[in-house]
Amino acid sequence: MALLHNRPYTTVVLAMSADGKIADEGRSPARFSSLADQDHLEEQVAAADAVLFGAGTLRAYGSTIRVFQPQLIQQRYQQKLPPQPVQIVVSPSGDLDCHWRFFHQPVPRYLLTTSHGAKPWQNKSQFEQVIVCKTYTKRQIDWIDAGEKLLAMGISRLAVLGGSEIVAAMLAADLIDELWLTVCPLLLGGSKAPTPVGGEGFTEIAAPRLELLTAKVVGSEVFLHYRRQRQDDLSTL
Ligand SMILES: NC(=O)c1ccc[n+]([C@@H]2O[C@H](COP(=O)([O-])OP(=O)(O)OC[C@H]3O[C@@H](n4cnc5c(N)ncnc54)[C@H](OP(=O)(O)O)[C@@H]3O)[C@@H](O)[C@H]2O)c1
Repeated sequence: MALLHNRPYTTVVLAMSADGKIADEGRSPARFSSLADQDHLEEQVAAADAVLFGAGTLRAYGSTIRVFQPQLIQQRYQQKLPPQPVQIVVSPSGDLDCHWRFFHQPVPRYLLTTSHGAKPWQNKSQFEQVIVCKTYTKRQIDWIDAGEKLLAMGISRLAVLGGSEIVAAMLAADLIDELWLTVCPLLLGGSKAPTPVGGEGFTEIAAPRLELLTAKVVGSEVFLHYRRQRQDDLSTL
């Protein structure tokens, strides 16, 4: 993993159906992956200084993934890390419900938002930190500014746990370095069901290119690990 000087090294971790959907058409919480995938997700969470996810993901689940396995918590202590990574919710609107289970889970919580979205959460105990980013429009944060702020807070390894809109925005800002995609044995279908990358999409020419690092089969699932290829890598081919 390369250390970057202006943002955290960032890995996306998602499970998807064999037809490339991360949830069904109702955007309900995705619970279709196996125990092996849940262990894999927990390992990725445990390897990060912070995990980040969009408000849509939190609205779907109402809670987050935290580290449970004692050996993973032990590994974090050995690396002089706190037992749980910071959990960062991205919500430009700040429209979140303080009754969700998330706000009672024993994890450190940060909010990444706009000055408008920060208002309801200032001087409240739910978030340890409310990070106000520069914005392009009312609902679109400046991701370069966000990356710099997270790195300045000591977050150098970031795991992005979805959903499709946040992954799309971070890819468009060229902030993604690796992806783990678990292909699960079911077909969800539906033109409105989210895929790993939502947003407006890329033209084929502008599409981010990937290098496959590993592909592992466990039961009926395939664990794909990709690295984002950048212009510098491609020009040496
Ligand atoms: N299979 C999996 O591994 C997996 C993992 C995670 C999630 N999911 C599924 O994915 C779905 C949720 O994904 P989603 O795409 O609907 O939502 P999302 O990406 O989690 O969050 C969308 C929210 O992020 C904020 N946002 C949108 N664009 C933004 C931008 N450019 N910059 C900053 N913030 C921005 C907005 O928050 P505000 O509205 O607060 O302004 C928006 O409502 C759920 O169905 C969930 O089950 C699946």
